Amino acid sequence: MTGRHPPASPEPGRGDPHVFLSLRQITKRFGHVTALDHISLDIAEGEFLCFLGPSGCGKTTLLRVIAGLETPDEGEIRLQEGRLDAVPARQRNFGVVFQSYSLFPNMTVARNVAYGLECRGWRGTRKDERVRAMLELVHLADQSDKLPHQLSGGQQQRVALARALAPEPKVLLLDEPLSALDAKVREELRGEIRDLQRALRITTVMVTHDQDEAMELADRIVLMNQGVIEQIGRAEELYEQPANRFVAEFIGRMNVLSGFGSAGEAGLIGVRPEHLELIDGAAAGADAIVGRIEKSVFLGSVTRLTLRAGDQRLVVELRGKPANAVPGATLAVRIPPQSVHRIRGAPP
Ligand SMILES: Nc1ncnc2c1ncn2[C@@H]1O[C@H](COP(=O)(O)OP(=O)(O)O)[C@@H](O)[C@H]1O
Ligand SMILES: [Mg+2]
Repeated sequence: MTGRHPPASPEPGRGDPHVFLSLRQITKRFGHVTALDHISLDIAEGEFLCFLGPSGCGKTTLLRVIAGLETPDEGEIRLQEGRLDAVPARQRNFGVVFQSYSLFPNMTVARNVAYGLECRGWRGTRKDERVRAMLELVHLADQSDKLPHQLSGGQQQRVALARALAPEPKVLLLDEPLSALDAKVREELRGEIRDLQRALRITTVMVTHDQDEAMELADRIVLMNQGVIEQIGRAEELYEQPANRFVAEFIGRMNVLSGFGSAGEAGLIGVRPEHLELIDGAAAGADAIVGRIEKSVFLGSVTRLTLRAGDQRLVVELRGKPANAVPGATLAVRIPPQSVHRIRGAPP
């Protein structure tokens, strides 16, 4: 696959005022498994980054390396000017929130938030005020005397956030913090995390396997696959200019087709389902793709069709509910030239 090892930028993290956290050639192996394969990445201060990718691609391992909970076999990490590799996790002062709420079950909400502060030497009214401020920040000021089991999952995760943010961490690290919650709460808390991060301007890295979550939250998405970074960029960049086939198919849907004139390196082109244009079959020109509708799913704003054309299958999304978009019907579409993606990367 192209771009598996993008060239590392020279002397990264040194001298560049925009780089806050810098990872260079980070490699981590577990026995025969290479969980991280020479990962390099620069994070700006105040940035919200999402590690996105399929299960097992190395997201958690990379987050744990940043947190200091995992020691890389190779590579280096810098925070501003200083090497971070030798700094133990607790001295990094990074706030961490995991998928499972991991609150102390026998401590009240307020005690849970206070605990980390006490470990770092906060005492008296300074500590108490900080606890109150944090609980207000996550809208739980009135729940401070409850025990974790008396709270909903969403509330428990808010406590975990308050606890992580209390000691004024330099970086906030979140590992799938929303994935144990049901859909509605997940969406609510997603918005809250974004607002919180904007308000505090805290450098944040969040692991997720949920594309929508990453697209909504991240300033930049780090799309990972099998221990490498396939592409880093804004959601629009990954969608509009996917670096390779993996990115094209992971972010949204992409029809990958062969046998067209303007093909890419591997003889493949890509076109998004919503970019295919319905044309009049009788008047179809040389660029027409004529096929039989195998499947038609009405999704409200669009109808998603599976079209069988020769030995290829395309997904086509048409606005609304076109009258003739029924299984068995013949349909002609064309690919507008400006919508063609040249696809790099061998077939899977
Ligand atoms: N402690 C460990 N021991 C052995 N293998 C591990 C360990 N942690 C992670 N791995 C392996 O490393 C790879 C990446 O795992 P992980 O970082 O948890 O992926 P993700 O968070 O993207 O799902 C997987 O193949 C996983 O099985
Ligand atoms: Mg994980």
